[in-house]
Amino acid sequence: MPTISSNRLLGRLRALGEIGRDPNGRLVRLAASDSDQLGRDQFVAWLREAGVDIKIDRIGNIFGVWRPDSVCEDRPVLIGSHIDTVINAGILDGCYGVLAGLEVVETLRDMGFAPYRPIAVAAFTNEEGVRYAPDMMGSLVHAGGLTVDEALATVGVDGTLLGEELARIGYAGDVEPGSLRPAAYIELHIEQGPILEREGFAIGAVDNLQGISWQKVTLEGVANHAGTTPMSMRYDAGYAAALAIAFVHDLAQDSNSASVATVGSMRYEPDAINVIPSRATFTVDLRDPDEAHLRALEAALAGYLESLRAKSGVSVSVERLARFEPVCFDERIVRLIEQAAARRGLSSRRMTSGAGHDAQMIARVAPAAMIFTPSVAGVSHNPKEATADADLIAGATVLLDVVLDLASAAEQRHGQF
Ligand code: GLV
Ligand code: MN
Ligand code: MN
Repeated sequence: MPTISSNRLLGRLRALGEIGRDPNGRLVRLAASDSDQLGRDQFVAWLREAGVDIKIDRIGNIFGVWRPDSVCEDRPVLIGSHIDTVINAGILDGCYGVLAGLEVVETLRDMGFAPYRPIAVAAFTNEEGVRYAPDMMGSLVHAGGLTVDEALATVGVDGTLLGEELARIGYAGDVEPGSLRPAAYIELHIEQGPILEREGFAIGAVDNLQGISWQKVTLEGVANHAGTTPMSMRYDAGYAAALAIAFVHDLAQDSNSASVATVGSMRYEPDAINVIPSRATFTVDLRDPDEAHLRALEAALAGYLESLRAKSGVSVSVERLARFEPVCFDERIVRLIEQAAARRGLSSRRMTSGAGHDAQMIARVAPAAMIFTPSVAGVSHNPKEATADADLIAGATVLLDVVLDLASAAEQRHGQF
């Protein structure tokens, strides 16, 4: 059975994880930033060393395409994920899938495998959505869900324009997004949750991904003196926001579905100890595997904000930042993942992805599925994010086997993909 080079994969993961550290040692490679440029440059250098054809599209997605003489059709097996990060990130989220993809290509090439179709590795732009919304932007554009011009015109939380920033860091490519049509898409990722570890499984065969709703809520009250304004005469946007945040939390906590809800960003203005806040701006991230439940959560929040307006006299405005329905992945690829795990003696279970991933966008245009590996203590979006080396190797090995299946002529003979 073919084996990947564990040292090369783990070494690259650690090397990329050192790129984009801020002065406090935090890993921060927000999309299209200077540190994202450094990470991209390293990835492109590795692609160049691997001798694959490098393509960069107008939204900055990077593709490394291996197309040896054996290929009989144009559509590649695409392996992808992202190398942008959240603020104070771990080193695995996204990077694992991208670097394992490169590892798979190099392994297959070195063992003399003659693929029926090309094999390509993608690093999609702005998966995290921290600087520019929506998240999964590069893959969304690739799948035709957002025009490239609209995406490039996105204004970031820091007031920058994505198109200008991509050009500034040298990653506004010229390839038309979506022109590289995959025959199949596969994404390897750490689970970022506790299930595999808790239940003792090595591999997650991800067959669906929950729906995601992102909103930005702005409450406007009246700034006034904290010492002289009686409690009955206040229009306190800060207090109203606190009520709304508690409501959002309880909404998910008390739901009888698998709902989760988070207020992850919050700003008061003028943000001073002795001034009643005139404005509060916060984000709401709602998720549920069931579209009807997700809609019910959104409706409940809208109803609550309306009652808050009536009760506390603050004005309310809501901006939608992202909205993606739940996705079902391709049953045939999910089965290939289960079979590959079994052949390697690895336990696997089917599961839902709680996190958003590029796979959910590419699933619109190609058969797609995901492989998960256990996350220690279920921690992610945190520098403590970790997966045991043996689990990282196991996941990359399953990826190797599934790509081998998808790129071999036998699959084509069976009329699949
Ligand atoms: C992506 O990391 C997400 O927010 O799920
Ligand atoms: Mn990710
Ligand atoms: Mn992430």
